[in-house]
Amino acid sequence: MKTNPLKLYRIPRKVVWICTTTSTNDLAKYELLKDPRPWQAFFASEQTKGRGRKGNNWISLKNKGLFLSIVLPDVNKELQNLIPIVTGISVSKAIEDRIKKISNKDINIKLKWPNDIYLNNRKLGGILCETRYHGLINRIICGIGINLTYHPKEIEHINPATDILTETGVVINSGELVNPICNNIWFYLLNLKEKRTDIVTNFLKRDFLYNKYIEVISPVFMDTQNYISKDGIRGIAKGIDKNGALMLESYGIVYRLISGTVSLLKEPKKVLRSSI
Ligand code: BTN
Repeated sequence: MKTNPLKLYRIPRKVVWICTTTSTNDLAKYELLKDPRPWQAFFASEQTKGRGRKGNNWISLKNKGLFLSIVLPDVNKELQNLIPIVTGISVSKAIEDRIKKISNKDINIKLKWPNDIYLNNRKLGGILCETRYHGLINRIICGIGINLTYHPKEIEHINPATDILTETGVVINSGELVNPICNNIWFYLLNLKEKRTDIVTNFLKRDFLYNKYIEVISPVFMDTQNYISKDGIRGIAKGIDKNGALMLESYGIVYRLISGTVSLLKEPKKVLRSSI
């Protein structure tokens, strides 16, 4: 591992591999009780209770995926929505670089706001960020799941998935991605505020939703004191703002959303009026 002169210590500061665990996010939370320092990485060959967003299971078969959790320092509240964005960019770049190195192939990984990673129009992985309150110092536990040589087939009709082997014919070992991902995230989090323009530009190049007609269920609106609409909102995705909020154009108004579940709609027959 190379050291960067800007770094006062190696990144990641500590890497823990475990053969089997319930969930690397839970392992990281438990280990934080003993050592609260940021930039520790925990990865497993297998998870028995892998967790996805919205309480979903994350199928985590032995040696078939990347199951990684990184302990990150807390950031200002206004910048918090950038964490999954920065993580998505960092993971995408680490995988693309690795594939290029092994096979000289170019792939283009896309990001579906807020937390999904896509390859060739199929879900390749996801990010689950959780905050651990540790006295006055909070930590963000950033969980990353990537399908390397297997993907679940059961959800084919709802949300088609894929894996790196299927799409590229290349086998990546999960351990090879840990250091590059941590280093990429570290780069963006150092002076995060100043790097926002760069982050937005980078995200837009990978934006899976851009100019697509979408529906956001349980949207949380930024401009209305975190108003949560019971109804969904439909519109055209217009990228993200400098704080990582989704820009959604509906009836000529651009709304900024800080959370919600996004699905693609077939055609913009009628853009439903939002309930705010
Ligand atoms: C999603 O798309 O729903 C997010 C999936 C996140 C899965 C990862 S695997 C490593 C970490 N440990 C977990 O239990 N979940 C995350």
